[in-house]
Amino acid sequence: MGVSTGPASGEPPVPAHDALEDYALSDEAGGESVQTDDPFFVSKQAAAVFKHKLLKVYFPKFAGKAGSNEPDRRLVYVDTHAGRGSYDDGTPGSPLLIAQNVAGMTQRQIDCLFVEARRSNHQHLKALLEREMPPTAVWDALHGAASEHLNHALSFAADSPLFMFIDPYGLGPTFPEVTRILNRPRRGFGSKTEVLLNFISGAFARAGGYLRMNTLTPQRLKTLEHLDEVLNGPWWRDAYLSVDVPSAAVKQIAAEYARRVGNATGCRSTLIPVKNRAHHVPLYWLVHFTKHQDGVWWMREAASQASAEWRRYCSPPPATDDDTLFALEDPFPGEELTRQQQWIDHIESNARRVLDRAKVINVPVDAEELYGEALGLAWSKHLRQGLARLYDDGLLQPKPLAKDLDKYVGVAPPAGP
Ligand SMILES: C[S@@+](CC[C@H](N)C(=O)[O-])C[C@H]1O[C@@H](n2cnc3c(N)ncnc32)[C@H](O)[C@@H]1O
Repeated sequence: MGVSTGPASGEPPVPAHDALEDYALSDEAGGESVQTDDPFFVSKQAAAVFKHKLLKVYFPKFAGKAGSNEPDRRLVYVDTHAGRGSYDDGTPGSPLLIAQNVAGMTQRQIDCLFVEARRSNHQHLKALLEREMPPTAVWDALHGAASEHLNHALSFAADSPLFMFIDPYGLGPTFPEVTRILNRPRRGFGSKTEVLLNFISGAFARAGGYLRMNTLTPQRLKTLEHLDEVLNGPWWRDAYLSVDVPSAAVKQIAAEYARRVGNATGCRSTLIPVKNRAHHVPLYWLVHFTKHQDGVWWMREAASQASAEWRRYCSPPPATDDDTLFALEDPFPGEELTRQQQWIDHIESNARRVLDRAKVINVPVDAEELYGEALGLAWSKHLRQGLARLYDDGLLQPKPLAKDLDKYVGVAPPAGP
């Protein structure tokens, strides 16, 4: 890919490793017919529907919260692997989604930096943003490799809250780069630095598979060394070889990677598996790092809403049957209602167990246990309805409300006289 059109003079070189090997490792473009010179952007796959809905729900929450007590109301979005900005059919990619936020969130100044290594993608991106960004917006779209623009990205962010989306095809940034971003010094209250990182399962599985080969090309050896840099040492090699199924090995490695980044930065992490179909193994894991409790809560909300959008995308409404002139019934809304009732039942039974044991339900502490198997599927509406059943039965006080549900603490009412 990108390197076949070499860099123009004066522009930063695109390392063959990032641009070529990463793409070869990725499954992201699988199955697409090639109409443009980058098959990823022909049309959106189900996994990208999930990823973009997550960003669309989460980023405004971050912007609203993190920008609220900044004197200049400025915050920064950096997209290190920005792509073309939109798909060939006009569907927004991450840059266009954010451009729509910049236009819509007039209470905040959202300054943006986009980086894209592939020349044709960069040209498309820049032209698109010139059309779509509001005239007063502060933004730039840089051509080149993400790592070469990292210093600039951090000085662009300066002391403002920063949300960085790292969405490579392949192995992505090194461990020191990720921890440097999350540990950036900032004058102001709180860290207000978050990263959403796409940990591409196929790329890690395929590169890990090189460990089982007897002879390796120099390119593959380089990929393994790069994996050591991405994961901060060779610890992952034993982890990979000790598990037979690549997707299970990647799951373990992603979890351990998140734990190590957390240790090095003081961040909490959320790992979200993203699939193209329910029966597939994850195409990638989205890993979110934040130091703020609200970030964990809102990321969980966003993931659940993204999963609803993803289910709809995987079960599109039946086409109208022209012969009968009747629209065939769409089973999806009914199925969705049944699923939601099951989540509420499940949350209710978890809540009864927590209350029996602890005599208190403390949502900030107990949220994971309360959601249980509905974690990543149900969202706060279902949590509130599950808790409300205990309130209605006279077992819990006060009444759980939608507002501030993330801070809710309820106890059994005192026994009557
Ligand atoms: C998964 S796509 C990005 C999709 C985009 N974030 C979105 O959601 O619409 C990955 C992009 O990263 C670009 N890329 C590959 N290596 C890169 C690097 N080292 N630095 C910056 N961009 C890179 C590719 O050309 C490709 O456009």
